[in-house]
Amino acid sequence: MKIIIINGPNLNLLGKREPEVYGNKTFEDYFADLQFRFKEVQLEYFQSNIEGELIGKIQEVGYSYDGIVLNAAAYTHTSVGIGDAIKAVSTPVVEVHISNTHKREAFRHVSYISPVAKGVILGFGLQSYDLAIRSFME
Ligand code: DQA
Repeated sequence: MKIIIINGPNLNLLGKREPEVYGNKTFEDYFADLQFRFKEVQLEYFQSNIEGELIGKIQEVGYSYDGIVLNAAAYTHTSVGIGDAIKAVSTPVVEVHISNTHKREAFRHVSYISPVAKGVILGFGLQSYDLAIRSFME
């Protein structure tokens, strides 16, 4: 089973970015844990701060991979383009967020990803990614 985690803008700063919201761990350290725990899954990781690169990656993997775990970060709340890319591909996408976006500012309550995602997991810290991967294995 081939699953890719795609992270959007500023998620490369995990570990030092607002640790009270996003925790102290870098994504690279967490990803190594995931690879250890999900040995039976071929896991990949891609991060970009650029909307077009995120769309390009969704198009590239979206007809051959078994699942996409997508945290589009701030683009979640603005990007018609990422929503359209998800609609265009055949690989199912699970939307994840580290924080509970519904507990936060009103602009974070809007998502262009949720209406086209297979499901949404948010608010469980980095564990949101674990749950998303598991959802593809069921
Ligand atoms: C986030 C929530 C978004 O609102 C924010 O812009 C992020 C991270 C999360 O994982 O909680 O960058 O997607």
